[in-house]
Amino acid sequence: MTATRSGPLKGVLRAPGDKSISHRALILGALASGVTEVEGLLEGEDVKRTAAAMAAFGAEVERLGEGRWRVVGKGGFSEPADVVDCGNAGTGVRLIMGAAAGFAMSATFTGDASLRGRPMMRVLKPLGEMGATWMCRAGGRLPLTLQGGLLKHVAYRLPEPSAQVKSAVLLAGLHANGGAEVIEPEATRDHTERMLRAFGAEVDVHEHGPERHIILPGGQKLNGIKVVVPGDPSSAAFPLVAALITPGSEVTVEGMLLNPLRIGLLETLGDMGADLSVTNVREEGGETVADVTARHSQLVGVDVPPERAPSMIDEYPILAVAAAFADGPTAMRGIGEMRVKESDRIALMAAGLTACGVAVEEGPDSLTVVGAVRANHGVKGGARVTTHGDHRIAMSHLILGLASDEPVAVDEPGMIATSFPGFFDLMRSLGAEISA
Ligand code: S3P
Repeated sequence: MTATRSGPLKGVLRAPGDKSISHRALILGALASGVTEVEGLLEGEDVKRTAAAMAAFGAEVERLGEGRWRVVGKGGFSEPADVVDCGNAGTGVRLIMGAAAGFAMSATFTGDASLRGRPMMRVLKPLGEMGATWMCRAGGRLPLTLQGGLLKHVAYRLPEPSAQVKSAVLLAGLHANGGAEVIEPEATRDHTERMLRAFGAEVDVHEHGPERHIILPGGQKLNGIKVVVPGDPSSAAFPLVAALITPGSEVTVEGMLLNPLRIGLLETLGDMGADLSVTNVREEGGETVADVTARHSQLVGVDVPPERAPSMIDEYPILAVAAAFADGPTAMRGIGEMRVKESDRIALMAAGLTACGVAVEEGPDSLTVVGAVRANHGVKGGARVTTHGDHRIAMSHLILGLASDEPVAVDEPGMIATSFPGFFDLMRSLGAEISA
């Protein structure tokens, strides 16, 4: 797919359902007793894998219509008859391993080449402390077989800020003697805690400065509910940044999730001088949502506070694109976790931006976008970018191409469907020129 310099982008759209919340709705629905109905589910490849996995663990999972799904949970998991393939989804496999560890059965997990390269010890370590055992490839990689059951309480301090690890421990804690406690030095997205409460569980959170202690008392039961999934801010980021960097543009994303632990990108773009307005703020399904409008803006470079990283960890690739069009450097520090996402996102953004004529400085856990290397500050573009099958690397570079002097192409556009099915049609409806 190739993106070409485009005229003003104009329009109003709804972002696809939030990926984090969609995975959790299916998993908690399968762990619960009774019927869970989900509206606005993200029908991306990652979430469809989780839906199939929940059926494999014994839940009844049915698609009722666009984004409308019903899960009939049996109050627990039963042993899957075959290998559970989570595709590209780190969230899917890590949360499902946590949930499965609570039951006396074994399950074998695998995924695509990207997922098989990603670290699983971060989840296996706390599950092991609770009593689960496993066999896996060297370095804690998939495929792996997990044996669960008879778990005991753990009080686990997260060594890295990870909502996936936190969630895996809490889900295992549902069936552990005495429950579980997670201590996070920095707050990460709290959708699991919110949704556990919505399904009827008690979750106690104590704040000690920036540190959070999340306590799930033992012996709790979940009951099916109705879940309305808000628009994904990590997907909305692409059309919004496209509008900011493309002259004459004005784009509104309706129904975007504004959970305080997910709005780091909006805060950072605000610091950079972006013309953003947030209207129609409302509560939907226990989360705050709003309509967000972005208009073309001359951005200025900033130092992004490292403590903001957990609230925008998936948004740094598209922030780096915005930064390429800003006056002055943008420094992104404390982002080492980006190296263990669907790809090494620091390395791939540095390579892609460099190929498009943007000066960058890469550090072990940092990326500074210095700016366009040419005197007139325009971004040259004119590259074919290697994405290593990473959806966010692909979308980020296509957005870059909409405002570059020369077209920008990406090698594996099909992967975009893991998180943002309909990306191409939606961007084209705004006036973006993206073609095969
Ligand atoms: C997610 C947590 C983050 C994020 C991922 C979704 C979640 O990962 O990058 O896309 O839904 O819990 P980490 O937990 O590895 O930070």
